[in-house]
Amino acid sequence: MSDRKIKNQKDYINLVNELIEHDKHYYKETKPVISDYEYDLLLKELQAYEKLNPTQVLPNSPSLRIGEALTKGFKHFEHIAPMLSLANTYSKDELKDFIKRIFKLLEKEDVKFCTELKMDGTAISIRYEKGKLTRALTRGNGKVGDDVTSNVKTIKTLPLKLHGKDIPDLLEVRGEVFIHKNIFKKLNEKREDEGLDVFANPRNAAAGSLKLLDPKEVAKRNLDIICYAASNGEDFVSSQFEMHSFLKKLGLPISHENHFDLCKNIDEILKFANKIESVREKLSFEIDGIVIKVDDISAHKKLGFTGKSPRYSVAYKFASEQAVTTIKDITIQVGRTGILTPVAELEPVFLAGSTISRATLHNIDEINRKDIRISDTVVIEKGGDVIPKVVSVNFNKRKKDAKKFQMPKKCPICSSAVIKVEGEVASRCSNPNCSAQKLRKFIYFASKDAMDIEHLGIKVMQALVEKNLVSSPSDIYTLSAEMLSDLEGFKEKSINNLLDSIEKSKKCPFSRFIMALGIKYVGKETADLLAIHAKDIQNLKKLSKDELLNIEGIGEKVAGSIIDYFQDENNLHEIDLLLSHISLIKPKQIRKTDHAFFNKIFVLTGSLENYTRTEATNFIKERGGKTSSSVSKNTDFVLVGSEPGSKYDKAKKNGIKILDENEFSSML
Ligand code: IVH
Repeated sequence: MSDRKIKNQKDYINLVNELIEHDKHYYKETKPVISDYEYDLLLKELQAYEKLNPTQVLPNSPSLRIGEALTKGFKHFEHIAPMLSLANTYSKDELKDFIKRIFKLLEKEDVKFCTELKMDGTAISIRYEKGKLTRALTRGNGKVGDDVTSNVKTIKTLPLKLHGKDIPDLLEVRGEVFIHKNIFKKLNEKREDEGLDVFANPRNAAAGSLKLLDPKEVAKRNLDIICYAASNGEDFVSSQFEMHSFLKKLGLPISHENHFDLCKNIDEILKFANKIESVREKLSFEIDGIVIKVDDISAHKKLGFTGKSPRYSVAYKFASEQAVTTIKDITIQVGRTGILTPVAELEPVFLAGSTISRATLHNIDEINRKDIRISDTVVIEKGGDVIPKVVSVNFNKRKKDAKKFQMPKKCPICSSAVIKVEGEVASRCSNPNCSAQKLRKFIYFASKDAMDIEHLGIKVMQALVEKNLVSSPSDIYTLSAEMLSDLEGFKEKSINNLLDSIEKSKKCPFSRFIMALGIKYVGKETADLLAIHAKDIQNLKKLSKDELLNIEGIGEKVAGSIIDYFQDENNLHEIDLLLSHISLIKPKQIRKTDHAFFNKIFVLTGSLENYTRTEATNFIKERGGKTSSSVSKNTDFVLVGSEPGSKYDKAKKNGIKILDENEFSSML
């Protein structure tokens, strides 16, 4: 919990930057490092300062914006009506103030409120045209969202066609996409087995799943949705309470009838809140509070907005479940790329359905920021069911001899030097042969996004390493039934299952093979880019730094890491061994010579609505075209977005073919 106070403008600027960083963790990486509660406290403090010092308010202040950014790899479209956020409070008094304010603004006290669950997922806007689902957008920056239509269409409870007769020609439905707790738990267990990062909570899992590039993968996540609003500029229902039955009639999934209500006053609202809080644990999905909305929709316009939230509604949030315990020790976990993660070993404590004995401390900056020491009494919180974290320290209970934690200078597993890379918060073990790193690397190698070897999770891999059966990824392909029978509990069935999956993995798409190599900074997206550009492993090995930097989306750091990787003789030897077992499937190439873009030179000007510059450039290059920064007599096409610059005028003057975005899309 925050006990800071902004004292001056410098503190204010620092807090703005800190919150922007948190927005990035939350929205872009879907990996928040502080709890919602802590975030809300920081934001409140920021807002209080801004209220007192309106002239200092920075234009990029998180109080003025919706944090979520747009995502690479998706088209972007504008929402018909902007997607706003809700003012929220954890305090009864503030809730009472909200009610009083509404009475005052509407100049009456017989106001009804519709109370609903505040689903803890990710906001979605779904467009139906003539009853057909045509587009689904994430909130994005509130005005423009990521087009996740194909992914949303995988949600089984969501109709692709609306039901009934009186279907409006156009309808923009709003709702929350989420993942059920049991599915989330299984998903994380699987990811842990595969050595992948686990999701911090179901909300991140839902948001992360919606942003996967392959709808088939999204379908496996079994997402669900609850809708709570729809509009098209017309008032087809007069109250929010009726909205639910309107949506239901159209076949849209809404909250269970016990989970929304009509309340006349604060007492009824609090009663509803208590009822929901008492069943919260039993719900199959996460909620983080209730939402209170003025029921009369015609009053919404009258009430207007403050900043980025409408005045007609407020979220009354439940504090997350917390427990108090002590830190017995802080240990270190070594990851695949050598990153050392400090972990708090806790006095076991029961919290939200299970006993907690460990909590991640993320990194040393986080430990220092919260001033966490060994033997401290701390508040821990279960961020939505898994990965508990330390929220705050009770300094009143600090022991005099409470030891400050320092990152070790030597790796606790292999004793090699620990290094801190400039510009990174993390410390890393410098020894690529560290046994902990190796184990994590092998698990990563076998994981779903890489070689996808089923039945080869953390436990089996650990056993294989301990028995000296696997000391490099290629050893996996030399395993025999006889060798596997050496493993505890391995009988005929499990042996056959594992050998079958190993066999299956021998045919592998090139991009997944690149992923499996575990090159630092090369994730799925970069592996895809490399596969498309290099086409085969021999070319990939030979790519120069300049050639790598020429690939849109690859920068200095990534290029440097790829070069380092292929300069290492051991890596090259291992690749040869792997390829003596594995045959790579080449990426599907568009037959460039057949394409209208082949050998054509493009110039881009103005801002495109549906593609980022990088995306458009990649599309052109994949089809054999080239891009140039200035218009000349060699230019074949000028792709023009909104507010184009002088390149557009020059192209027009010289009679060069001008493409607008639609023409470009259809040529693609
Ligand atoms: S109404 C002006 N109703 O909470 C925004 N939102 O913090 C109108 N949410 O973006 C939103 N359950 O993702 C509304 N019953 C509910 C909700 C709900 C969850 C989410 C939604 C929204 C966020 C705002």
